[in-house]
Amino acid sequence: MINIDLTGKVALVTGGARGIGRAIALKLHEAGARVIVFDLDETGLNELKEITKEEVYKIDVSNFEEVQTISKIVLEKYEKVDILINNAGITRDNLVMRMNEKEWDMVLNVNLKSAFNMVKGFYRPMLKNRFGRIINMASVIGLMGNAGQANYAASKGGLIAFTKSVAKEFASKNITANAIAPGFIATPMTEQLTEANKEEYKKVIPLKRFGQPEDVANIVLFLSSQLSDYVTGQVINCDGGMIM
Ligand SMILES: NC(=O)c1ccc[n+]([C@@H]2O[C@H](COP(=O)([O-])OP(=O)(O)OC[C@H]3O[C@@H](n4cnc5c(N)ncnc54)[C@H](O)[C@@H]3O)[C@@H](O)[C@H]2O)c1
Repeated sequence: MINIDLTGKVALVTGGARGIGRAIALKLHEAGARVIVFDLDETGLNELKEITKEEVYKIDVSNFEEVQTISKIVLEKYEKVDILINNAGITRDNLVMRMNEKEWDMVLNVNLKSAFNMVKGFYRPMLKNRFGRIINMASVIGLMGNAGQANYAASKGGLIAFTKSVAKEFASKNITANAIAPGFIATPMTEQLTEANKEEYKKVIPLKRFGQPEDVANIVLFLSSQLSDYVTGQVINCDGGMIM
């Protein structure tokens, strides 16, 4: 029997209070890892803490100084972070013609700059231990673009390029970096879509349904485990075959 056992590993999930991040946090917890969560949603954080019995932090991951401050507190308590999942993300959709600077900056800061902030905050123990698994939550939109989502597409495309660069910089230290590109996953983020829109999207998904947060969490589990030791700099799609 193949067993994924993350006992002894410390994992950190951003945006873990709900949606995909929550499913990831629960999956890693089930596999035996100690799971720390960063999010802005205090209620979701406290619910998760009840289950994991580990620390949760209300923090804006797009803020470099905040991440630096909390990283010191986390590393003092846990001494290391082995698995870093940069999952926090937002949308502020608009056509470029109508998009304002705030909508652009917010999405780039939360979806892309946060990954830089987190890697800066947590790479040191990975280097020291010669072990690290960095997993960045991109999107199929970052691969193919989307009308009305130029900011989101740019942030996720940038995140993929960031992932590959980090993979190259840290490979010699046994630190891998990979990205996951989900298609449409049923979460509060996609609940905003109209029913008509959802039906339209299902038509272009060969598996004819939206994915579940657990579908993405399963890939995170693989990328966190020894099963993926020889995989780095990759983008794994989780999209029901939407783009291939
Ligand atoms: N749901 C989908 O179909 C889908 C598809 C492709 C990619 N993704 C990506 O997956 C990730 C998770 O998406 P989701 O659908 O679970 O979204 P969600 O909106 O349900 O959850 C996102 C979480 O991130 C947190 N967050 C937002 N800004 C933050 C900040 N500045 N600091 C800390 N936490 C912050 C939110 O509070 C929330 O708990 C995102 O990066 C998203 O872009 C989602």
